[in-house]
Amino acid sequence: MCGIVGFTGKDQAVPFLLEGLQTLEYRGYDSAGIEVLSPDGGLHGVKCAGRVATLKERCATANLLGSTGIAHTRWATHGAPTDRNAHPHLDCSGRIAVVHNGIIENFRDLRAYLSRNGHTIVSDTDSEVVAHLIEDAWAGPAQGDLVAAVRNAVQRLEGSWALAVECADTPGQLVVARKGSPLVIASDEHGAYAASDITPLAAITSHVIQLEDDQFGLLRDDGSVTVYDKDGIEVAEPSTIDIDWDASAATLGGYADFMAKEIAEQPEALERLLEDRLGEHGVELDELSLSREQLAAIDRVYLVACGTSYHVCLIAKEMIEEWARIPVFCEYASELNYKDPLVTDHTLCVIVTQSGETADTLAAARRMRALGCNVFAITNVLGSTAARESDGTMYIQAGPEVCVASTKAYTAQMVAAALLALRLGYTNGTIDRAEVERHFRNLQAVPDLMREVIARRWQDKQAAQLFRDAHSSLFLGRGVNATTAYEGALKLKEISYLHAEAYPAGEMKHGPIALLEKGFPVVAIVPADHVHEKMVSNIQEVIARGASCVAVATDGDETVASMCQHTLWIPACPEELVTPIVAVVHLQLLARYVARSRGCDVDKPRNLAKSVTVE
Ligand code: G6P
Repeated sequence: MCGIVGFTGKDQAVPFLLEGLQTLEYRGYDSAGIEVLSPDGGLHGVKCAGRVATLKERCATANLLGSTGIAHTRWATHGAPTDRNAHPHLDCSGRIAVVHNGIIENFRDLRAYLSRNGHTIVSDTDSEVVAHLIEDAWAGPAQGDLVAAVRNAVQRLEGSWALAVECADTPGQLVVARKGSPLVIASDEHGAYAASDITPLAAITSHVIQLEDDQFGLLRDDGSVTVYDKDGIEVAEPSTIDIDWDASAATLGGYADFMAKEIAEQPEALERLLEDRLGEHGVELDELSLSREQLAAIDRVYLVACGTSYHVCLIAKEMIEEWARIPVFCEYASELNYKDPLVTDHTLCVIVTQSGETADTLAAARRMRALGCNVFAITNVLGSTAARESDGTMYIQAGPEVCVASTKAYTAQMVAAALLALRLGYTNGTIDRAEVERHFRNLQAVPDLMREVIARRWQDKQAAQLFRDAHSSLFLGRGVNATTAYEGALKLKEISYLHAEAYPAGEMKHGPIALLEKGFPVVAIVPADHVHEKMVSNIQEVIARGASCVAVATDGDETVASMCQHTLWIPACPEELVTPIVAVVHLQLLARYVARSRGCDVDKPRNLAKSVTVE
């Protein structure tokens, strides 16, 4: 949700800034801008509505020179995505420039105050006030000290921010600040760099400073960096993280788009996650910060997440309840934040978040922690806020997920949840070692089953034709695969803009059946499981009304194949609880083919952002 990059050094700033923005574009992509401190002593920039590619074109003719600069790619919250509202924002003098990620909640009051005091605000954004507050502080109490000016300005802000600030009067310096929105800093012999996350920095270094809330960073063009706390005292040992991502992991590597690449990466991601997990505790989960006794005492589990990660929670609920027999509550983080959760002395709260930065999820985790829960995070991003604020963290090790629609993180998170469920079950004695091993072997079979599905992607390509001109669609499943239906519908609507509704198939007769008419596309997830016959009856109800049915079915299921227009075949799965991990791959592929046939940008769907850092 908005990407920030900054550079100060000996080299030209523009190449790194534009490349960095391109890598961060998944965070937001409705407008972009850049501002560089040029050798003539002034700030010069370009900003425009649209993608980073448009900004690059504009920069090619703007001849922006200078070795200190900041840049931004935006996901609009306050103010439409226009040239005027694009960042960076300048103060009245045009000598201070600011990029911001987050929300300044008291911006209306600040705008009014600044306007009364002679400032001219030119944009509709919440962010611009920051530049003007720094302008006041610079001329007043900070007396020309940029760190002091930013610190002073930030004291007046309410909300969340990651900020990067440059000033024409402090050449060779950048100041960054953070509260609630991520920001990392790196340096090498060429200079010092700042970014919203590690992806633009992976090619530069394997070691970054992670700014904590209420800290400030001063970056100098000789590559030195000083971190200060909120009182302006130097932080002796800023927090750091080692990047274990190879920079090429965030490049297309020959694939048409990141979604195709990330779908294909799933089997290997799962293999990595399962490596060396079987041990004396059944499943080894050193990441849990609870003793054996504390684990055995857990009497309820809250699973909390947003979006696709919430669907992981629904599957995890089935796994934990079946294998560990512990009652589970699944909550959308944005809902839990306004409820009164039923926490006991032995409640475990598990947050599931690919980015580790989703504001609603973080707020829910903080709340559950304050209520006394042990909070365990399942996340992908090393050193993310979720990881830093939780009692224990399990990294899914899926590598950077760039496509806004989550694929490999979804399946890896499901496997992580399965490992947690097995550990809980073994610890509280509901499953014995032999059962743990059997379920674990079943999970180990999944990567090859996924490879088989990916090899059958031509089936999805053919079935996609049914959806190209449709106006709506319905996804049906039962039991654990009702969730597969929810996830399939979410994938389809987010990247193809085709409305998709998902329902437990048995509930169809209570409403969605009214939608069915000739040619209406329905996707039925009907693997060989204990509700198979019930699903077959539901498919009958669908085709009896002239709708077109696409089935996800197990190899050899001729009954289903004979009833449906298209069958997306999955190999036989060793147990029911792993079928969602395999079946969903078809639905990811189907969504991608439908989106492409409708001319959509599968990696950057409109209005969405990968990392939603506002509540
Ligand atoms: C956004 C993304 C989704 C993601 C959701 C939760 O909506 O577009 O793909 O599932 O956020 O993100 P998280 O990083 O917390 O898993």
